Amino acid sequence: MISLRKFKQNWLQPFFFYGNNPLTLIGASITTASAITWWTFWIMDLINNALNNPYLGLIFFFLLPILFVFGLIMVALGAYLRRDKLRKAGQVPTVYPTLDLNNPVFRHGALIVLIATMANLVIVGTSTYEGVTYMDSAQFCGKSCHVMQPQWVAYQHSPHSHVACVECHVGPGFNSYVRAKMQGTKQLYEVAFHDYPRPITVPLNALRPAREACEHCHNPRRFTGDKLVIINTFGDDEKNTEATTVLVLHLNLIHREHLNHFVYTATDDTLQKIIAVNMPNPKGGETQFIDSSWKGPIKGVTRVMDCMDCHNQATHIFRTPEQALDLAMAHGSPSPSLPYVHKEGMALIQGNYSSQAEAGQKITAALYKYYQTNYPTLWVSQRATVEQAAKSLVAVYDQNVFPDMKVTWGTYPDNIGHMNYPGCFRCHDGSHVTKSGQSIPNDCTTCHNILAVQETNPKILDQLGISGDATPSI
Ligand code: HEC
Ligand code: HEC
Ligand code: HEC
Ligand code: HEC
Ligand code: HEC
Repeated sequence: MISLRKFKQNWLQPFFFYGNNPLTLIGASITTASAITWWTFWIMDLINNALNNPYLGLIFFFLLPILFVFGLIMVALGAYLRRDKLRKAGQVPTVYPTLDLNNPVFRHGALIVLIATMANLVIVGTSTYEGVTYMDSAQFCGKSCHVMQPQWVAYQHSPHSHVACVECHVGPGFNSYVRAKMQGTKQLYEVAFHDYPRPITVPLNALRPAREACEHCHNPRRFTGDKLVIINTFGDDEKNTEATTVLVLHLNLIHREHLNHFVYTATDDTLQKIIAVNMPNPKGGETQFIDSSWKGPIKGVTRVMDCMDCHNQATHIFRTPEQALDLAMAHGSPSPSLPYVHKEGMALIQGNYSSQAEAGQKITAALYKYYQTNYPTLWVSQRATVEQAAKSLVAVYDQNVFPDMKVTWGTYPDNIGHMNYPGCFRCHDGSHVTKSGQSIPNDCTTCHNILAVQETNPKILDQLGISGDATPSI
């Protein structure tokens, strides 16, 4: 009791006495208003996922704290200045006025703080809310934040185009939540000061989702049996001859094998060069497979294998020129009826352009010119088809190449297969071996049965009763 009274006499009373000046009162109201806003949004954000956005970090860890501290500085400065002034005038009291609401000076001070806090609350609260709503919008992610453009465009054309960024990038749990917010703040800083990597590096940091994020929607125990994979390609001949590859992929085995088991070591941040894999044995201990071509020490980035080690392109799908063009043609445009459109298209989408705008103009002009010169009658009779083909080529380019961000064909490797990038063969290449010479299986039937390779109208599809155009819809 005694110490409380002393505290009041020696600290609170002088504080309120000196604090009774406009600067301190306004500072106090700014600080209180930002604190209330901070807590309100924090609670709303935790409860309501709709507000959940990594860029809230900007507000949580940056703007509101700055306002908060700014207010505190005003409080201290105001009190200091008043004390200084009174001291110079020799008016420092020996006994400070009591904290009593009956004392009109104290009452008025308290009232001013209250009213100013209300006013500030409206201002800080409303602008914070506006800011959050804006940052939550697709427009912020995709357009204002120009850096994200490649990921944003790829996302829009993915099976997850209706899954919010935060569903994957902000995993469950408080830690990942705070981590993501901090990461978002760091990125905004980088963007603001143009201090970001181009292309955005495939991250080993907080950007890479946690495995739980996927399992929130996909239960790995539900991967049973095999999956039929049909891949259509077009040739470089005049008729753009279509060929089909048919595989039966052992999906269950693939999913069952790796998860939670394997710890691997890679020498690069993009995880493309894997030099060692440790596999726990059922009876204890572990088997280590080492890349026999690697002569250096076993050190680098170490990870427990999870979904992202294969599905690194779960949603940011960047295709190879062949894949992208074949897919577009399988969907009908560029129309396979246009002679040599595959060959010409491949050359055009791989051209060197300084921007998407330039690519758009040049690809279109070059395709028109090709048909005007080489197929003048077709240019007249099927002009609309050629125009549509040009549009589709430009779209293929725009979905995969972003000169501004230095993202081009092949910038982001896909780990799912092994034809275009090392993918599964980062480990299953036959040269990752144990001391006793046992290798990670790489027999062609380990992962799939190959039913047809690049065949025109493969019989197997007839036998299965499947029409050959079973291309992915995305
Ligand atoms: C279905 C899950 C999922 C969704 C939804 C998702 N991402 Fe990603 N994102 C990933 C994965 C997985 C990676 C990691 C790739 C890697 O590590 O190789 C990633 C990586 C990134 C990267 C790093 C660059 C790269 O391609 O590796 C950026 C930037 C990014 N995401 C932004 C976004 C934005 C913006 C959105 C919303 C428009 C979004 N992500 C939505 C799964 C997702
Ligand atoms: C919010 C729910 C949700 C989350 C989180 C989610 N997915 Fe999906 N995912 C879906 C839905 C829905 C589909 C099916 C879309 C369709 O068929 O059009 C899908 C489809 C897929 C497909 C099949 C794509 C194809 O071409 O058929 C893969 C692979 C996949 N998800 C992997 C992942 C991975 C890896 C993660 C974690 C990084 C993840 N998903 C996170 C909902 C989710
Ligand atoms: C060892 C590599 C590997 C790992 C690890 C892995 N997957 Fe897959 N997954 C594949 C392959 C390969 C396919 C088939 C690809 C295709 O359809 O072209 C596939 C297909 C899928 C599909 C589509 C299934 C369908 O019926 O079309 C989903 C969804 C999926 N995986 C989710 C996950 C999730 C979630 C995890 C983590 C819990 C995971 N995968 C871990 C390799 C892997
Ligand atoms: C980080 C290394 C690594 C990567 C990448 C990897 N695997 Fe594996 N995989 C292994 C190891 C290790 C084994 C277990 C080998 C053993 O049991 O001797 C294995 C086992 C398998 C098996 C079971 C083989 C059997 O006969 O039991 C299949 C199927 C498989 N992997 C498919 C894939 C596919 C498909 C991919 C690419 C999408 C892939 N793996 C990527 C390391 C890897
Ligand atoms: C470790 C697993 C694994 C092994 C071993 C493996 N493959 Fe594959 N293969 C895959 C996966 C995964 C895909 C991708 C399927 C997809 O695109 O969905 C694939 C795709 C293919 C394709 C179609 C690719 C395309 O784009 O046209 C062919 C052809 C193929 N493999 C041939 C082979 C041959 C030949 C061998 C033996 C030398 C082999 N594979 C060994 C996992 C494997």
